[in-house]
Amino acid sequence: MSENMKGMHRTHRCTDVTEKFIDEKVVVAGWVDVRRDLGGLIFIDLRDISGKIQVVFNAGYIHKEGFEKAEKLRSEYVVMVEGIVQKRAPETINSRMETGTIEMMATDFRILSEAQTPPFQIEENANVNEELRLTYRYLDLRRPDIQRNFILRHNVYKSVREYFASERFLEIETPVLTKSTPEGARDYLVPSRVHPGMFYALPQSPQLFKQLLMVSGFDRYMQITKCYRDEDLRADRQPEFTQIDTEMSFVDVDDVIRINERMLKKVFKDCMNLDIELPIKRMTYEHAMNKYGSDKPDLRYGLEIVDLSDIVKNCGFKVFADAVVDGGSVRAINVKGQVEMPRRQLDSLTEHVKIFKAKGMAWIGIEADGTYKSAITKFLTDEEAADIVKAMDGKPGDLLLFCADKNKVVFDSLGALRQELAKRLGLINKDEYNFVWITEFPLLEYSEEDKRYVAIHHPFTAPMEEDIKLLDEDPIKVRSNAYDIVLNGYEIGGGSVRIHQKEIQEKMFKLLGFTEEQSYERFGFLLNAFKYGVPPHAGLAYGLDRLVMIMTGCDNIRDVIAFPKTKDASCLMTEAPNVVENKQLKELSVKLDLK
Ligand code: AMO
Ligand code: AMP
Repeated sequence: MSENMKGMHRTHRCTDVTEKFIDEKVVVAGWVDVRRDLGGLIFIDLRDISGKIQVVFNAGYIHKEGFEKAEKLRSEYVVMVEGIVQKRAPETINSRMETGTIEMMATDFRILSEAQTPPFQIEENANVNEELRLTYRYLDLRRPDIQRNFILRHNVYKSVREYFASERFLEIETPVLTKSTPEGARDYLVPSRVHPGMFYALPQSPQLFKQLLMVSGFDRYMQITKCYRDEDLRADRQPEFTQIDTEMSFVDVDDVIRINERMLKKVFKDCMNLDIELPIKRMTYEHAMNKYGSDKPDLRYGLEIVDLSDIVKNCGFKVFADAVVDGGSVRAINVKGQVEMPRRQLDSLTEHVKIFKAKGMAWIGIEADGTYKSAITKFLTDEEAADIVKAMDGKPGDLLLFCADKNKVVFDSLGALRQELAKRLGLINKDEYNFVWITEFPLLEYSEEDKRYVAIHHPFTAPMEEDIKLLDEDPIKVRSNAYDIVLNGYEIGGGSVRIHQKEIQEKMFKLLGFTEEQSYERFGFLLNAFKYGVPPHAGLAYGLDRLVMIMTGCDNIRDVIAFPKTKDASCLMTEAPNVVENKQLKELSVKLDLK
């Protein structure tokens, strides 16, 4: 019995109807949220994108046919209702509803669409299994809390674009079908029909195009754009995600940082009415690793890491002494006031650090009388134990947790331990937004797997001026002009000053193990462009989904992407990826070998 809207026009969204409209006629439209039938009186909450309003169908008020139709209403029916706004009786005021002091007395209405019973109830913060939610994403997206995420996301786009426009950036689109620009992840490939056996790659980022736009003289570029990376997915990673991508000419690190800080300030003010204090603090990569075991430290809590290698390098606890002799380190965290932590908690923390390849987690508890509770102090001299406690600023009641290993394992383990402890001990202030710039990243790391250097950021990142001479002598020591912006332990953006001298770019490719021929084969268009006058340039890209995820207080990036993919990169709703017809494969000269 679906009807059409003929002769009836929506005049307002639900929550636009306020006490101002009392005694006036309005027309609203939306979904039946809940329905209560009290005999001659039927109440519905009508829901649209703005919120809800209560509609009353009174058998003595609306025409007979209308009342009979109202009796048929069910949840999620789509209706358009005309009615007179009236004040609710004091005892029926609903303070939890934005429109809770008024209601509409229906004078006429249409059922625009009937609805089956949905597979789950459409309600705020519903505790519904995610698989079901993603299969019926269009229903999941009806939930007001999810809809609020997308309203915020929209406001972020708007504020970002306003900001960059006011700073004279131009938004320019770059291709989606392109040539592979390696950024460390695997490419998504698209076979070409016209060129059998050849492939486009979907961009992992517009990196090379934005650099070419600088060569073209566009000076300040920005784009809100999709990027595609075939990598292992996590709670903060999707195979297609959105970047706020920027690039500027004639700038240095400070310029990029200052311009971007002001953008963050505006976005947080516009979208959350929060004041971010500028300048945002900066920390070198080395400092971040030493103190927090991570290049994206969460600074909302302490639990800093202390290096004890010097104190224990000759001690009687072999695990510690050997780690230092083998070139690693021994580091620890002081967990204030936690000497009474139960054994099974310590065991589960030990299990947790083992995920990060730690071989164990030694501990020393400092009792109220200053004696130690520990399995390892018997291997230490009194002086060594006292030195450790002093270095850790240990006080009676404190618990010291240790990790001894190669530096990478120690950092990964203690970095993760910090996070886990903060969660378990409730040290995280959810209302805090703690930003930090991480600077002076190493330029290269050595890949045991590939037996060569690989770029930490990407191959176009410039070395720091003062380290250029090290490129020949000791490449691993070279620091880069790269920076990340970190918020509450998430990397929300990263960028760098680019190499704009052809010779340094060629040297970089050589270090990365490319012959000149290979470099030209892959990046010839960039190297050639650099022969025709290239301005010094630098840029930064934000993960917009991550930023919005943090702003909305979600801990999963899927909650701020309308149609996200699952952990195995599939879409439960459309069932992509899917098989295609043989005819399509043939056209693309693609032959499958499915055994
Ligand atoms: P980078 O690779 O650091 O830099 O990416 C920039 C930001 O994008 C976000 N991000 C992701 N978000 C969701 N899912 C993913 N799979 C994902 N991968 C990255 C992160 C990250 O900080 N071209 C350079 C930028 C530049 O140098 O200007 C680049 O893409 O928040
Ligand atoms: P063991 O002597 O092997 O019983 O270890 C004594 C304590 O040291 C235990 O609490 C272990 O978890 C811890 N431990 C073992 N290996 C390491 C390591 N590499 N770093 C820190 N603690 C460790």
